[in-house]
Amino acid sequence: MSNDSIAKTFLVAFLLCVVCSVLVCLAAIVRIDREAYNKQLEIRKTVLEAGGYQQQIDDGGNIDEIFTTNMEMKLVDLATGKYTTAVDAATYNQKEAVKQPELSETIPADLDLAGIGTRAKYAAVYLDKNGGVVLPIRGAGMWGPMYGYIAIAADGTTVKGFTFYQHSETPGLGAEVDNPNWKKQWPDKQVFNAAGKLALKVVKKGKYDPNAADAISTIDGIAGSTVTGSKVHGIVRYWFGEHGFAPFLAKFKAERG
Ligand SMILES: Cc1cc2nc3c(=O)[nH]c(=O)nc-3n(C[C@H](O)[C@H](O)[C@H](O)COP(=O)(O)O)c2cc1C
Repeated sequence: MSNDSIAKTFLVAFLLCVVCSVLVCLAAIVRIDREAYNKQLEIRKTVLEAGGYQQQIDDGGNIDEIFTTNMEMKLVDLATGKYTTAVDAATYNQKEAVKQPELSETIPADLDLAGIGTRAKYAAVYLDKNGGVVLPIRGAGMWGPMYGYIAIAADGTTVKGFTFYQHSETPGLGAEVDNPNWKKQWPDKQVFNAAGKLALKVVKKGKYDPNAADAISTIDGIAGSTVTGSKVHGIVRYWFGEHGFAPFLAKFKAERG
């Protein structure tokens, strides 16, 4: 075929298009992989932070290594509180499941203290091999959804750590939920009282009484941010209630506590 022929010109142009398309596809795949990895890393980092491994990360520890050494992800059927293999844990995405009717359920309005309307049937929980479990929580904040993790000790009631990783609250006001000085109130608080009743609560700033009998289950709110404080209160009340993790925590305590 002569170099000047029209057929050869088209052939070269066609091959060039094929090569370029392959390169663009490969670049997109690498980017998607990278994004997925970064998302997974962010989740692992937050789970570890809630679970009390922040110091190891600050000391330069490798997040993936600390995570795989200490955490095991399992799916919990929230209705029964039992572990489930109904869906593949490796590919399960709880945020996406909320949008799929077969993987989610409507929350009765009178129980919907977190203001979320629907929740996934299965929750991805992180079992700490040293005891305890890190639970995902979410709910409506003042300005948008709030997503976080709360770690509970092997006794099924003592808070080990608490952190939000996504919210839209106002810097200096509701966003003070991220302030380490506010978050440090959470460790050692008791979710349930001696009678096994849900006791954890967030009160309006200034209403916390360290000498009150329920101080061990009470979190002081945030100054000038009563709205966010009450939203966080609703979130913990929902997720530790009977429609949330209460059935799971009862079983978890019996097994591990
Ligand atoms: C622009 C703007 C943003 C605000 N953002 C928040 C917020 O993120 N969280 C919050 O609780 N209150 C926020 N507030 C204040 C609430 O409207 C409300 O006044 C406050 O929660 C009451 O808290 P207090 O009883 O502690 O004063 C905001 C107010 C304004 C004007």
